Amino acid sequence: MEAIKINFLLLVCIQITAYCYADTPANCTFADVSGKWTFYESARNKNKHENCTLMGQVERKIKIDLQYPNIAKDEFGNFGTWTMVYNQGFEVTVNERTYFAWSYYIQDGPNVTSVCDKTSPGWSHDVTLRHWACFYGRKQRPMPLKVHRDPFHSLLLESSGPTHQDFSNLVDEINRKQNKWEAAVHEPFLTKTHAELLKIRGGKMSWLAHRPQPVPPTRELMEKVAGLPQSFDWRNLGGINYVSPIRNQAICGSCYAFSSMGMLEARVRVQTNNTQTPIFSTQDIVSCSELSQGCEGGFPYLVAGRYGKDFGVVPEQCNPYQGHDGPCTRDTCYRHYTARYSYIGGYYGGCNEYAMQLALFQGGPISVAFEVHNDFMSYKGGIYHYTGVESPSFNPFVLVNHAVLVVGYGVDGETGEKYWIVKNSWGESWGENGYFRIRRGVNEVGIESIAVQATPIP
Ligand SMILES: *[C@@H]1O[C@H](CO)[C@@H](O)[C@H](O)[C@H]1NC(C)=O
Ligand SMILES: *[C@@H]1O[C@H](CO)[C@@H](O)[C@H](O)[C@H]1NC(C)=O
Ligand SMILES: *[C@@H]1O[C@H](CO)[C@@H](O)[C@H](O)[C@H]1NC(C)=O
Ligand SMILES: *[C@@H]1O[C@H](CO)[C@@H](O)[C@H](O)[C@H]1NC(C)=O
Repeated sequence: MEAIKINFLLLVCIQITAYCYADTPANCTFADVSGKWTFYESARNKNKHENCTLMGQVERKIKIDLQYPNIAKDEFGNFGTWTMVYNQGFEVTVNERTYFAWSYYIQDGPNVTSVCDKTSPGWSHDVTLRHWACFYGRKQRPMPLKVHRDPFHSLLLESSGPTHQDFSNLVDEINRKQNKWEAAVHEPFLTKTHAELLKIRGGKMSWLAHRPQPVPPTRELMEKVAGLPQSFDWRNLGGINYVSPIRNQAICGSCYAFSSMGMLEARVRVQTNNTQTPIFSTQDIVSCSELSQGCEGGFPYLVAGRYGKDFGVVPEQCNPYQGHDGPCTRDTCYRHYTARYSYIGGYYGGCNEYAMQLALFQGGPISVAFEVHNDFMSYKGGIYHYTGVESPSFNPFVLVNHAVLVVGYGVDGETGEKYWIVKNSWGESWGENGYFRIRRGVNEVGIESIAVQATPIP
């Protein structure tokens, strides 16, 4: 009887999912998701490529209490960890099993209803990667529905974009207003539509309705960081470069894949003293990862992290970059796997400048995500900060998150201003040979709020 009831619920859920699961994501925050859940899990005999939409009969119920700040406690009293993944889903690891699912939502025209006490069907397996299953979660206490407007709905994105004159005006105003950094028109952006520029800046799935703030560093962390060098750059460590070349994501919201592969590439170099210098396939991520949304966006935590651990990544030549969504062709190339991954600070919302510095120094480059304002697109050199210069011709721009790779940090010799050194994926002709520097220590455009580390197995 119980099984029949659960299956019925699931059917309703599948029917809703079928027509709504396409547009912008849910807005479920820590406060909405923390609390007591029941996970309904299928038989643990699935293939790892299982399409969990049709998850089959529920065979197990697991009760888990998600507590502050990242404690997951199961019904037997075992303690594990959990984290939000943006405001779009959450991952739980307890009693030697790990679970990930997207939060449930319904889109009806411009209105998005987040159903934060429920998940879409997700994936679970032993921490040793055996016994795959599908599951979905229900919070024991129902939460109020939350409705927001899809910021991209009814925007006339396809037809036009800013003109050359619009770009020139913006650049002039930025350079008039301040002299910490220099703006210039970036030729390749001139002919793009708003929709294309949106992909270049991150893709609509990377829209973030609620950004966490950095947490204050502990004394212990500050003491450790006090022992680090004043400046540090993985591109030049005693004359040796551990960072792979700059690439170009083109017109595809795949920055998260470039940030993720860039991190794994650099860390393999670090871990093998540059005897292995792989370039990993970003197209494999765009085409094959169900933990991201192809050219509409995604998250390094799930790509360098969970996808890298569960499925592994392949060399570039195995699936060369095309810059558009496409069918996944499964190959037999050698796969590199991720051994460990985490949000820096231990969970989404636990980040700060000091934790980032330490992780960068100890393990290699780290993935970060920040808000791309209009002025950033025209960055040419210097230490970036948001100038406040906006232009109506760049509307309908909505702030989205762009994922990039922090490879170092330093202090400006003249002004004493602290900065991060960051690798972008807009080609070598953008910025400082494909890189930019950005103000450090003040969470500039959110760059110190969401950072990820992942350790590859060379
Ligand atoms: C999974 O199955 C559903 C329902 O049959 C289908 O609509 C969806 O396209 C499938 N997804 C993938 C990635 O195959
Ligand atoms: C969306 O919400 C608005 C305001 O609540 C409402 O007026 C409108 O009818 C809704 N649109 C749809 C398609 O449900
Ligand atoms: C997302 O949820 C948070 C917390 O409930 C709320 O503060 C924020 O306004 C929401 N964002 C949108 C766009 O509705
Ligand atoms: C790492 O590589 C450098 C440059 O090839 C070499 O000089 C150095 O000895 C290597 N270090 C180790 C520990 O092998």
